[in-house]
Amino acid sequence: MARRRQIYEGKAKVLFEGPEPGTLVQYFKDDATAFNNQKRGIITGKGVLNNRISEYLMTRLGEVGVPTHFVRRLNMREQLVREVEIIPVEVVVRNIAAGSICKRLGVPEAAPLPRSIVEYYYKNDELGDPLVAEEHITAFGWAAPQDLDDMMAMALRVNDFLSGLFLGVGIRLVDFKLEFGRLWNDEEMRIVLADEITPDGCRLWDIETNGSMDKDRFRQDLGNVVEAYQEVARRLGIMPEAGPRDMKGPATLQ
Ligand code: TMP
Ligand code: ASP
Repeated sequence: MARRRQIYEGKAKVLFEGPEPGTLVQYFKDDATAFNNQKRGIITGKGVLNNRISEYLMTRLGEVGVPTHFVRRLNMREQLVREVEIIPVEVVVRNIAAGSICKRLGVPEAAPLPRSIVEYYYKNDELGDPLVAEEHITAFGWAAPQDLDDMMAMALRVNDFLSGLFLGVGIRLVDFKLEFGRLWNDEEMRIVLADEITPDGCRLWDIETNGSMDKDRFRQDLGNVVEAYQEVARRLGIMPEAGPRDMKGPATLQ
């Protein structure tokens, strides 16, 4: 981590200047937050697992034609990504009711939704990432109508692909959050999938037991957080090479 210029520090990641212009190094921390930073902890080994899980999922998505910022994994905790201008809109796709939709709309937990639902949240920690409509996004210029169409179409493709991929390893993709960025190429701009796809930003339920294999284990103090992330990685066939040394757990501090 030394000698590199830090560009940004988020709740679970740090971005550093990359080795060449237009690239960044994305470092995955073990820090966990929930409920807009009100609950904090360290999940030892989470960063290593998330680095691998996001690498795997972004690579698979790239192979089926979803453009992403991912370039390659550099080491246990870092990956090289293209520098993008992050669009301040979090796109959530839901297949099964869980979390905030249950509270907000009174939908029973675990009810299958009539169809996949795409929601937008304004990425602003101070405001607690409020739910917003397309109208707000386009009126305030966070994204143009065409950008939003692209994001929605990509989010649904990601949902189709990842739902199948997870189902194949006995996991239900309940919901997930995506972030997108603008990638500039001379005068041309295109929208690409950015940030990460990991159990920090997804709900993943075991197909047999409906047990959580994601950050809800941390949010709800269910225990065995890192073990659940490890199991996701194991089922995807991507356990990190030097795993046990850097992943001792459980050590969920609050
Ligand atoms: P929610 O039920 O709290 O709205 O979350 C829906 C999904 O989106 C869940 O898998 C967690 C993810 N998510 C994030 O990753 N970051 C966020 O800031 C929020 C609000 C949700
Ligand atoms: N990621 C958000 C936070 O850290 C919300 C959550 O995941 O519960 O506060």
